[in-house]
Order: sequence, then structure tokens, then C-alpha cells
Amino acid sequence: MTDRSAPGGRAASAPLVGRDSEPTIFELSRPGRASWQLPTTGIPETPLEDLVPDNHRRDAAVDMAEVSERDLVGHFTRLSHRQYSVDLGAYPLGSCTMKYNPKVCDAVAALPGLDSVHPGAPAALTQGWLATLVELEEALCELSGMAAATLQPAAGAAGELTGLLLMRAFDAARGEQRRRVIIPDSAHGTNPASVTLGGYEVTTVKSDERGCVDIDSLRDALDDDVAGMMLTNPNTLGLFEEDIVEIAASVHGVGGLMYYDGANLNAILGVVRPGDMGFDIVHLNLHKTFATPHGGGGPGAGPVAVAPHLTEFLPGPRPVRLDDPDGPSFGWQTPARSIGRVHGWHGNALVLARALAYIEVHGGDGLLRVAERAVLNANWIRTRLHGTFDVPFDRPCMHEVVFSAAALHRRTGASAHDVAKGLIEEGFHPPTVAFPLIVDDALMVEPTETESYETLVALADALERVAARAEGGQLSGSPRTTPVRRVDEARAARTLIPTFDARR
Ligand SMILES: Cc1ncc(COP(=O)(O)O)c(C=O)c1O
Repeated sequence: MTDRSAPGGRAASAPLVGRDSEPTIFELSRPGRASWQLPTTGIPETPLEDLVPDNHRRDAAVDMAEVSERDLVGHFTRLSHRQYSVDLGAYPLGSCTMKYNPKVCDAVAALPGLDSVHPGAPAALTQGWLATLVELEEALCELSGMAAATLQPAAGAAGELTGLLLMRAFDAARGEQRRRVIIPDSAHGTNPASVTLGGYEVTTVKSDERGCVDIDSLRDALDDDVAGMMLTNPNTLGLFEEDIVEIAASVHGVGGLMYYDGANLNAILGVVRPGDMGFDIVHLNLHKTFATPHGGGGPGAGPVAVAPHLTEFLPGPRPVRLDDPDGPSFGWQTPARSIGRVHGWHGNALVLARALAYIEVHGGDGLLRVAERAVLNANWIRTRLHGTFDVPFDRPCMHEVVFSAAALHRRTGASAHDVAKGLIEEGFHPPTVAFPLIVDDALMVEPTETESYETLVALADALERVAARAEGGQLSGSPRTTPVRRVDEARAARTLIPTFDARR
């Protein structure tokens, strides 16, 4: 156990901070220090015993770190300098859309009229909030070509589960109990997980040599036991499913529903709508496309929008426009055959407010530019790094491009993983590696629409230098210049070695 009088087990005179180490906040703690001061109220203090019954009182005081404001700010500032973030630079983590998020959206979410309202406040007092939610729902429906949406799901995967529960409700309402949901072999890992969680079996269909759904494999999988198909378009190889109309018709032909995984919507915003492609259910990752910084675990929002034949099953209660001329303009309603709640209150409300701000600030033309630039930037990177890495599906891509480091790996022993680690030393966040699973040594680069030409050049230069280091046999053991060096990722996750014991 650590002796707190000698922080972190260090000699009392040793510097507390350094490039390689930062003590925990508890190690900085000294009895009696505080970074706050409460004004006196003038009201006589009531003894704790009179306020809280015996059996609800703690036996001992809560063990909190006691630090001055100076030490507190220094600690967290130093920690923040050891992080990489979307505000710091390019973050080409394919499929995750880690883009810079405009600060105006944060400013809107921080407005007191939005962030200080209790979610349980009555509708009559929260007409502004309800208007915000209804306007967002309408905007998302317009962008996705759907009839109505729920804003409750807390993330993309939560949206997927909601969509599958809607499929089940739809099936049950028509007196059926279909068992299977089809997904392509390039799908994001959350898709099969959600299918299983939703109570269905996964049927996987192959991708063809163009990286798209193999139509013959799909036809073989279709029968009246299929509840639906989950697809993202552009798919997780960054390629547009050109046969989408035929795919949707085939699935509808056996009575199945089409589910659109909208995590990749920034590639098609304002260009084409999932509803027009034949999808019935769509989830939208607001934290990817619509300006909420994510990574590190949230918060997110994954609204689910549906076609007219599914609106009666949506989670409730939903914020809606009311048409009583004498009453409030907005209120709450639960759809007739609602699947129930999928989140407390209104979902992650401030993420929703940010998304509406993003849509309003951009307007229709601006959103179209988002998609155009996302696609342009990815194709620029694809063309520039062609030859440095292999491009397994070598044709124009959408918002992301999947390279393969397999040939480099065979030649030099350096894997996609090593390339990613090497890029950290160049001052960039690594791309996604080893996904999609159908590409060996995959390096999935999503530059996003927010990065400038100069940043793209710097990123491509950096990736070329990393490849050259691999050719020279100099990549193993990277990164060496970061606060945390190369870790064994499996062991780091499974065998935690705590260096500080917070118990006394
Ligand atoms: C294609 C795709 N689908 C679904 C998800 C899941 O979204 P979330 O992380 O918000 O649960 C992601 C996340 O990266 C994704 O890229």
C-alpha cells in the first residue's frame, strides 16, 4: 500500500511530475488542502444526525483527494498533454469518423435554457426544448428519407438494437416469428452483436471481388425466415453498394426489412437518402456525422428513423407537434404499439442539441459540402498512397479507404499494427487496423471532411516515412517517443497491474 506522505513511493524530494510519469490525484493529496471555498450562509448548521437517519449514514468520511486549485489544474493539464484528440490534429480512425467538431455546437449545448433544464420539467415549461427535439427529428427524417424517428438511443449500437426490436415488433404484429437477419461479411462488429442481442440469428453473406454484397450469396440466403438485412452504405470498405436497389428489392421480396447502419452518413449527406435506396429502418450516429466529439466512451446519440409502416412501433414517449390552437405547441405522445423506452428521459439531450446546431449552421448546401469533402479527402489519400500500400478494392471510394499492409508485412515483417504504432511517433493518431476482417493487414483511413489539404499532405508524408522505416527494418518497438511506449495490447487489457492502491 502506498504511503501518502511519500507520494507514489517516491523519495519526498523527488519531482512529482516528469515526462514519463504523472502521479495520481491521490498522490498529490495533502491533508487540509482544498481547491474550493464555500461561502457561509448565516443559517445555523443542523447536526447531521438530525438530517440523516443512523442507518443511512457512512461510518467513515469519504476518501477524497485534498489538493489546491493550482495542483488540480496542473495535474489535469499535464494529463491532457499526454493525450491525442480531435482538437489536436488529424485522427484518421476509419469507420469511427473522428472529425473536428465546430465549437459553435458546444456553445449552443451550453446555453442555460438548454443545459440547465431538468428533464422532468413539465411540457408547458419546456416548449423550447421540445421544439428543438421535434425540429431535429424532422431534419433527420428529411436527410434520411424517413417518416418519423426516435431520438432516445444513446449510441449507434443502441440504435441497432432498437431497430432490431422494431423488426421483431413488426414481425409479431403480422403474426410471424422470423428467425434470421442477414449481414455482409464486411459489416461492423456491432451489427452481428446487435442481431444476437435482438434475439435473431446472424446469416452472413459474402462480399464479391468489388468489395460489395455478392448478389448470388444474398439470393441463396433469402427465404421467408429472414426478418431483414443490415447494411451500411457506403459499406465498411468505404465503397458504395451499387446494387442497393436490387438488394433492397430482393429482401423486400421475401417480406424482410432493410436496416441502414447510418454510421457512415457523412459520405452521402444531401446526395442520396437511405429511404430512397429502399431502407425501412435507419440509425444515425449523431456523434460521428453531426458534431459531438466522441471516443473515450461517449456520450453519443443514435436516433432511429423509420418508414411509415413502422412508426406505430417507435419507442415512446416522443416529442411531437400538437395541433390544438389553444394549447401548447409541443407535447409528448407514445405510439400505439410502442416497443417502450430504450433510454431514460429524452436520450442524450445535449448531443441532440449539438446535432441540430450543426445542421442549422451548415444548411442544406453546407451538408452537401461535408459529404463532397469527406469523399474528396479520402480519394486524395487513396491516390497519393497507392503504391506505398496495396489497395485491395482499387476503385473510387467514399469517405474512407482501406489499404492493406500485407505485402509490406511479408517483405519486411512490419504489420499494419506496426505501421499504426509508427504513425503515432509522427504525431498523428493511427488509422483503424485489422478491420474490416476480410482485408489482411487492413489499414482503414478516414481523413474526414474537416482536414485541410496541408494536413492531408502531412499525413500522407508521415505514412510514407513510416513505410520507408518498415522497409529499413526500423519499425519494431514503435512508438518510443510517447509517454506510454509499446504495450502488449492483449496483456494490457487482461492483466492489469495497478501501480497505486487507493485504499488506505
Ligand atoms: C459502421 C458502424 N456501425 C456501427 C457503429 C457503432 O456505433 P457506436 O460506437 O456509436 O455504438 C460504428 C462505430 O464505430 C460503425 O463504424
